[in-house]
Order: sequence, then C-alpha cells, then structure tokens
Amino acid sequence: MEPLNLCDFCFSPLEAVYDYKAMSRGVSKEKIASGPLSMWRYRGLLPVDGDVVDIGTGLTPLVKADNLGSELGLDQLYIKNDCLNPTHSFKDRVVSVAITKAREFGFSTVACASTGNLAASVAAHAAKAHLKSYVFIPSDIEQGKMISTAIYNPTLVAVKGSYDDVNRLCSRLVEKYNWGFININLRPYYAEGSKTLAYEVAEQLGWRAPDCVVAPAASGLLFTRIWKGLEELSMLRLTGPVNTHMYLAQAAGSSPIVNAFEAGTLHVHPVKPDTIAKSIAIGNPADGYYALRVARESGGAACAVSDEEIIEGMKLLAQTEGIFAETAGGVVIGVLKKLAASGAIKKGDLTVAAITASGLKTQEAVADVVRPFVVQPTVESFEEVLGKNVQV
Ligand SMILES: Cc1ncc(COP(=O)(O)O)c(C=O)c1O
Repeated sequence: MEPLNLCDFCFSPLEAVYDYKAMSRGVSKEKIASGPLSMWRYRGLLPVDGDVVDIGTGLTPLVKADNLGSELGLDQLYIKNDCLNPTHSFKDRVVSVAITKAREFGFSTVACASTGNLAASVAAHAAKAHLKSYVFIPSDIEQGKMISTAIYNPTLVAVKGSYDDVNRLCSRLVEKYNWGFININLRPYYAEGSKTLAYEVAEQLGWRAPDCVVAPAASGLLFTRIWKGLEELSMLRLTGPVNTHMYLAQAAGSSPIVNAFEAGTLHVHPVKPDTIAKSIAIGNPADGYYALRVARESGGAACAVSDEEIIEGMKLLAQTEGIFAETAGGVVIGVLKKLAASGAIKKGDLTVAAITASGLKTQEAVADVVRPFVVQPTVESFEEVLGKNVQV
C-alpha cells in the first residue's frame, strides 16, 4: 500500500478493495457489538493495520423523528445525528481513518483542502496524533469554522478564492511537499471512513438497510460510501438484500451533480458556487460521476433546494426535533420535504436523513432567530414587555 489517489495509467480515482471472503471470517454481529462504542467497532471492515487515532468518533444517535415525520407525512423517519461527533461533523469519521493511515505511512505532517468541517477535524486529529498540520480553507468561510479549527493550533492558511481554487493549490503542493494530504494522496483511505455512517445506521435499525437515505453531497464521496457500506453489510450477510433508494441533496447555488441528474447525463459540468451552504459548495465534484451512478442505480434521485429553503429546513429540524444542524443539514431537510411532498418518499418508507454537521458553526445563516424580549429584573417589567405573550 502507498499514499496514492489516482491510477498511474488511466488517472481514475483509486479505491480500497477487500477480500470479502477473508473479511467475513473475522466479522460478525456479536464481534461488532462487543467492540468499542465508536466507529472503530467496525475496524474489521476498514483498511487499517496499526493503532488507530481515535478522538471518540461515531456511534452517533439514530433518532426516531416523529415530530418532523408528522410535519412531512412520513411515519418512519430517522435522523442520523452526526453533529455529535467530537468536532461536530461526520468528517471525524473520514479523518480518523486517514490520519491513522498517515501515521502508518510515516508522515510527520498532514494537510487538507477544506470547506471548513474537514479543517477542524484534521487539526484536532493531528493534535491528538502529535503530527504537524497545514489546513487550507477559502478565506470567506464562516467565523465558527475558522475558530473551531484554529483552536487546535494547525498552520491555518486562508486562501483568497473558492474551495475549487484551494483544491487546485493543494494538488500542486502535494507534488512538492512530502505531506499526507488527507483528501488528496490519502483520499482512498479517507473515503472509507464514511462507510461507518452506513454501518451504524444498519446496526441501529436492528441490522437492516433503510428503504430511503437522504444525504448531502459536495464532492459526492460520502454519498457513494454510504451505498458501499450498505452493500458490504449485505455481501457479508450481516443484513439482507439492499433495496435502499439513495437521494442526493445539494444547494441550488452549487448543484453540479443535480444538474447532471436532471439532464440525464453522467457528465458533471463544473459550476461557480454561490450559496450559504458553504460546506458543500464544491463546483467541480471529484466523485460526481460515481454519485450519479449510485443515485440512478439505487432508484433514487438528486435534488436541490434554494438558500431560503435551506434556512427553513434548519429551522424546521430545530423546532421539531431539537437538533441544530448547519446549512448542509438544512439542505437535507429541504430536499426531504420536497421528496415527501412529491410522493417520491412514501409515508411508510423507512427513511434516514443524514445530518452531517452542527449549526453552531454556521450561525450566520439563521441570525434572524435572535429576538429576545429585553426586560428589567422586575415582574412588572416582564409583564409589561411580554404583555399578551405570557402563557399562564
Ligand atoms: C457538513 C458536510 N456534509 C456533507 C459534506 C459532503 O461531503 P462529500 O465531499 O463527501 O460529498 C461535507 C463536505 O465537506 C460537509 O462539510
């Protein structure tokens, strides 16, 4: 094994492949159940050898969302709440695997190109693993993402440009510096971490695959790996056949994969992102082609929602289920709402919405919710200001 992401001959992305026959001998439901209460209970399904770098990622709640379900007309709706990972996003899953590999390969420095969530996760895991880290982000990302990365003391580089510019810069730097770039030369390993979200969902549902999954897409990698994870469990006979419809969610202001889906092609044309959902604002998605195939072959779809719908989605999730998701979560709830209204997702479908990061990092999007009643510390002032709003 070596740190490499593209095939030398055809330049296609490399992917971890396994000997599933051999794997099946070491993996069982009982063994998984007796493992750690983290994503590392699925270690036998991941491409790692040595000690893992673990800051407590995974086994996040799968919440039965009855309040949101009744708003949307869905009887069996679940939220996979990945806001509750250590750095508040699903990126801890991919980074935990990639940094473990970085250490196995002997890198002393790791780096990444990030829209914000990956940045914090890489910086946190590097701190834990005593590695140096260089984290590259677009200079206009949210303040919450900037601070929640900087606290771990990486070398934080804010690039004046879009995420796609940041990614291009990093693709040049990887040729020059002997660093483990989490989402470039370590990408095949990074990708595999996303499968653990699917493993957890299946285990939490009593070892079965859901009927429908709605998940956000930036590069499209998470979406493809949720599918791969579900297929693997079936192949290893830990679940029955997979009949899951995979629904991909993007913001209308950055929806190259949805555009291709709607045009009926597998060719993704790059776009210039313009949306409040900055974490998934990738104009040229590396795994768009593969994500499109999953959406098609699973009998799912790809849908986009406007910035207004994203904000409505964030508020709806918070005000029905008590979960404050970031803008990418608003995208998922907005798309879920559309799919339920159109009948694509039906009342009785066991549906899982992947909520991949916390709203505390994108507070700007919903700043208008801050409308406190300002009162003097007296009962008179309280009753005068609130007037008819006081519930007796
Ligand atoms: C919160 C959140 N959700 C989803 C994604 C999508 O990830 P992918 O690039 O694997 O499609 C990202 C990517 O940065 C993200 O930050």
